[in-house]
Amino acid sequence: MAAALRGAASRLAGLRVTPCRTTQSSWTCPSGRTTAQLTISPKRTGAFVRLYSNGSDNAASIPDPELQDKPYYVTTPIFYVNASPHVGHLYSMVLADVLKRWQVLKGKQALLCTGTDEHGMKVQQAAERKDVHPKALCDTNSQTFRDLAARGNLANDYFVRTTDPDHRDAVEYFWGRLRDSGYVYEKTHEGWYCVSDETFYPDNLVARAVDPMTGKLRHVSIESGNVVEWTQERNYHFRLTALRERLLEFFKKNPTWVTPPSRMAEVVDWVENHLEDLSISRPVSRLDWGIPVPDDESQTIYVWVDALVNYLTKAGYPGLAPGKEHTGGWPADVHVVGKDIVRFHCVYWPALLMAVGQPLPRRVLSHGHWLMDNRKMSKSVGNVVNPFFAIDRWGVDTMRYFLISRGSITNDPDYSNKHIVEAYKKGLQTGLGNLVSRVTKGRAWNLRSAVRSRCGQHLEESDVVDVDYAKQMQVAEKAAAGADEHMDTLSPPSALKHIMELVYESNKYLAYAAPWNVAKQGNQDETEKIIYLTAESIRIAAILLQPFIPEKAAEILDRLGVQENRRGFDFARVHADDSYGLDPEDRKADEALFPRLAVED
Ligand code: MSP
Repeated sequence: MAAALRGAASRLAGLRVTPCRTTQSSWTCPSGRTTAQLTISPKRTGAFVRLYSNGSDNAASIPDPELQDKPYYVTTPIFYVNASPHVGHLYSMVLADVLKRWQVLKGKQALLCTGTDEHGMKVQQAAERKDVHPKALCDTNSQTFRDLAARGNLANDYFVRTTDPDHRDAVEYFWGRLRDSGYVYEKTHEGWYCVSDETFYPDNLVARAVDPMTGKLRHVSIESGNVVEWTQERNYHFRLTALRERLLEFFKKNPTWVTPPSRMAEVVDWVENHLEDLSISRPVSRLDWGIPVPDDESQTIYVWVDALVNYLTKAGYPGLAPGKEHTGGWPADVHVVGKDIVRFHCVYWPALLMAVGQPLPRRVLSHGHWLMDNRKMSKSVGNVVNPFFAIDRWGVDTMRYFLISRGSITNDPDYSNKHIVEAYKKGLQTGLGNLVSRVTKGRAWNLRSAVRSRCGQHLEESDVVDVDYAKQMQVAEKAAAGADEHMDTLSPPSALKHIMELVYESNKYLAYAAPWNVAKQGNQDETEKIIYLTAESIRIAAILLQPFIPEKAAEILDRLGVQENRRGFDFARVHADDSYGLDPEDRKADEALFPRLAVED
């Protein structure tokens, strides 16, 4: 948005200042029609301005005919069920949900998969500590994650559980293809295993450290700080090192495969400098809570191989007819993952897929970790925020708005109630709520008649507008294309910022144009012009906000009287809808969209 404004400002700045008089040159209106140039009112600015609008900016994208029947497929990581969900998990979920909903807004078929990761040592040990059967623990805790997806208003199409029979079938089939690939061999493995991270670490990534609680010396992973233990066992290995060159070649050809670029660089560095073959099974004597290796019941499939296959399971693997595999969604368009699990998704996963001859996911979006008092929010640190309590307290859309606007792809954001209050007051209450209420509740105009009289009126030669009107028009016109560009680069935070700029600019415009004063002077035409442009700005912002704050955005569109079938991306253009706007008698006595907070900390 800043760029759009700078663009608008520089174009405005570059204009010839001419006395108030119409000119004959034409400009292109958003709908592609040609209409006359606008005249800037000397009353306010003394300048003339030409509005530029590129009709193609907002045009719906033309789908690749070959891929028309491949849904856009977004995934969240699947969550370990050894502990309850926290706000960090909700963040992964909401980010993925926004990406899916954006595609739906644009008219695409899109699928979202989330779920739970239920096998492995971590879950086995958690069940032992509670003295319950692992499946009982999984059933209870998986349901809590499912409930969280519902409370967070995720539009997920699937909720995968790795203990489900369809997933087990997919993993067994995948294992078979891996064995057939020739990349699997058996050997006795010695190394450091970390149960918390469910991974082996090489020697150079392990250090000795004092346990602050007991004062005892133990070995920990340098990366995660979690305790590791020395193991020696016979297991199956995946010849990851044999795929080094293919991986590097793939990264070279797809330099933006991982977002953000800093993570992509880490992935390349890992493959170049730290690659080792991967142990892909554990002896049943150590781990029996998992999927047994087919034809070798003495071994259990490594939990990460089991878990990664979940993305294929719900895409119909391996059951879809040859040539029709993509109709289930695979390859995934985006895997959303936290930064701690990038290596699994960006090194192990593509290598495993290469080995079995499956296409690779199109992109991976890695995000930062929420911090509490400068430490990663995590169960083991004991500083987690219960996401159900947070949603109960602040409301689902406030939480979604806060997580996306303050969350970060590259950095680790701070979580605190103070920040939630700030985001609520600035963005939602003062920004959006105020704007909507001023336009929809104003008594000095009738929104329905303003829309009826102004929509499609692409400003005639005789129209007089000021610089602020012109600027506001440009910001509104460019909102959709700008947000879409950010979403294309997998940056929901930037897209949201861009849309909120439209909201903030609209408030400024309304305050400056003061339609209530213009109405008092009896100038109905000018009043309707101002109200129409502001209502258009709100309508566009609300359409674009639907993926971020679905309930509140729908409420705004209801208050504006926008029909259900006119809420798609293609309607997020000035003059795209002539049918909305309620007459005063049809308006309900609505409560505040974003009420005052009773308690602020
Ligand atoms: N089960 C694996 C993922 C397997 S995907 C095939 C796992 N589970 S997890 O429950 O430990 O983490 C799930 C996701 O939550 C990860 O993406 C992780 O980065 C994310 N988060 C955990 N703590 C977080 C924060 N404090 N902040 C943001 N995200 C956090 O890893």
